[in-house]
Amino acid sequence: MSLDKSPPKIASMFDKVASHYDFMNDLMTGFSHKLTRTFALRLSGFSGGMKALDLATGTGDFAFLLDKQANGQAEITGIDISRKMLAVAAERARRNGVGENVRFMHGDIQNLPFEDNSFDVCTIGYGIRNVPDARSAMKEVLRVTKPGGRFLIVEATPPVNRYLRFLANFHFSKLIPTVAKLLMLNADAYEYFARSVDAFPIAPRFARIMEEVGWKVRYYPMFFGTVTVFAGVK
Ligand SMILES: C[S@@+](CC[C@H](N)C(=O)[O-])C[C@H]1O[C@@H](n2cnc3c(N)ncnc32)[C@H](O)[C@@H]1O
Repeated sequence: MSLDKSPPKIASMFDKVASHYDFMNDLMTGFSHKLTRTFALRLSGFSGGMKALDLATGTGDFAFLLDKQANGQAEITGIDISRKMLAVAAERARRNGVGENVRFMHGDIQNLPFEDNSFDVCTIGYGIRNVPDARSAMKEVLRVTKPGGRFLIVEATPPVNRYLRFLANFHFSKLIPTVAKLLMLNADAYEYFARSVDAFPIAPRFARIMEEVGWKVRYYPMFFGTVTVFAGVK
């Protein structure tokens, strides 16, 4: 199976997993993704009156947490290329009575339909790994972020330690696709997940790429380096 990250291919893959994405996300991470997101949002300084953009928003987890952090008093846009993921996000918003200050729209990170310097905070959870050219995507995010604004990336990363890396790879490449097959879910998507994590740069290297693009960066490895929060300032 190839690591084709062209937007139509990625959109169709996420369209297929949309209905069980939240369930598998909880299962794969043992719910730890909730802690990681909360930690990232604490670093964002996001509050009422601000504007945030959640890139690759998927089913909207980050967008809803941003809204909660700002007590419903901020403007939040979630953008994604998978219409089915966006449909789940919209349904969750409706079910939970989320206000109109949170909106979801179809679009590609690589070509954002926003003016320069529009957002105080940009976030992306488990999304940058799926973009064909992360460097140019991060440049595009830099363009739409206000000077002094923040960019929080949460991403599954290969641990620097090779023994941990082996264990993490086993968990993601063998265990998770097997569980997906047993549950009769789309196992291909979970095989893609393992391969894309393994091919992703280790955290210090990725932080260097962010810096080269123009972000001032700090990064925080979590859960033995299997996930990293990258905090950028424009
Ligand atoms: C693993 S999901 C993450 C969803 C959500 N951010 C989360 O934290 O749970 C990755 C998402 O990235 C989206 N995506 C991938 N490439 C994209 C692109 N070029 N532009 C916008 N969204 C993209 C996919 O459609 C998918 O919904």
